[in-house]
Amino acid sequence: MKKILITGANGQLGNEMRVLFESYSQFEFFPTDIAELDLCNKQAIDDFITENKIDYIVNCAAYTAVDKAEDEIDLCYKINRDAVENLAQAVSGKAKVIHVSTDYVFNGQGENPYKETDSTDPQSVYGKSKREGEEVLLKNCKESIIIRTAWLYSSFGNNFVKTMMRLGKECASLNVVADQTGTPTYAADLAKAIMDIIVFDTEKQSFPAGIYHYSNEGICSWYDFTLKIHELSGITTCKVNPITTDQYPTKAKRPMYSVLDKTKIKETFDLEIPEWVESLKKCIVKI
Ligand SMILES: NC(=O)c1ccc[n+]([C@@H]2O[C@H](COP(=O)([O-])OP(=O)(O)OC[C@H]3O[C@@H](n4cnc5c(N)ncnc54)[C@H](OP(=O)(O)O)[C@@H]3O)[C@@H](O)[C@H]2O)c1
Repeated sequence: MKKILITGANGQLGNEMRVLFESYSQFEFFPTDIAELDLCNKQAIDDFITENKIDYIVNCAAYTAVDKAEDEIDLCYKINRDAVENLAQAVSGKAKVIHVSTDYVFNGQGENPYKETDSTDPQSVYGKSKREGEEVLLKNCKESIIIRTAWLYSSFGNNFVKTMMRLGKECASLNVVADQTGTPTYAADLAKAIMDIIVFDTEKQSFPAGIYHYSNEGICSWYDFTLKIHELSGITTCKVNPITTDQYPTKAKRPMYSVLDKTKIKETFDLEIPEWVESLKKCIVKI
C-alpha cells in the first residue's frame, strides 16, 4: 500500500486532503502539522520518511500571512524557502513531492492567463519566499511537482469567503477592490486534483515533474467574488461598493492580474476543473 504524508494538515488545503482519506482506501495517509512534524527540522523529516516508508509527500505547509510577512521576513523565508529545501534534500530519491505555490510569484502586469513558462517577478516578501521555495525544490528533488494556485478558500480555516460572509451580516455597506482580477480556488477541488495526480502516477507509473497551474475556471474581481458570496449565502442587507486598489492600501503589494492558464495540468492529467461559481456554491453549503 502506497503511503502519503500530508504536511500542514491543519491548514485549509491540509484539512481538505483529510476529507478525501476515506475515498482513497488504497492509500495509507499520514497527516501531520507543525506539532507532529516541523519542516524546519530536516532530521525529523528524514526520520519520518524512512521510518514510515513514505512514497508521496503533499506539502500543504506554508507561511501564508501575506501582509504580516512584510514584517516577519525571516520567519516567512524559514517556512516557505528553507523548510522546503529541508524537505527536498531529506526526501530526494526516497519519495515524490507535490508542493503548493502561488500566483504571487508573478508581478500581475500581464493581460493573458499566466503560463508555467512565463517569467516570475514576485512583488512581496511572501511571493519572493514562495518563488525561492519553488527553486530550491526543483534544484534538490527531481521527482517533484509544484502546483501554483490562487485565491484559496475552504470551509476550514479563515479566508476571504468566510470574512465576506461575516462582514456581510454585520455591515450595512462594504468597500471591496474591483480592479484586481484572478480566479478563486476551492481547496477541496485542489485536494482532489492532487489525489488525481497521485492516482495517475500509481496507475501509469508516470510522475511528470515540474510546475503546473491550478485554480477554478473563470475570471472575476474581489468585488465580483464578494457579490456572489453574498448572493449565494442569502445576504441582502449589505451594499457592496467597488473601489480601486489605491483606495485600499495593504502592506504587501498584490498582483493586479493573476489569472492562471490551466491547460498544462488539464491535458497532462486529464483533469476537469469546475467553474468558480459552482465550487463556491458547494463550499457555502458546507459553511
Ligand atoms: N491561502 C491562499 O489564498 C493561497 C493562495 C495561493 C497559494 N496558496 C498556497 O497554498 C498552500 C496551502 O495554503 P493554505 O491556505 O491551506 O495554508 P494555511 O491554511 O495557512 O495552512 C498552512 C499550515 O502549515 C502549517 N505550518 C506552518 N509552518 C509549519 C512548519 N514549519 N512545519 C509544518 N507545518 C507548518 C501551519 O501551521 P500554523 O497555522 O500553526 O502556522 C498551517 O496549519 C500554501 O503553500 C500556500 O502558500 C495559498
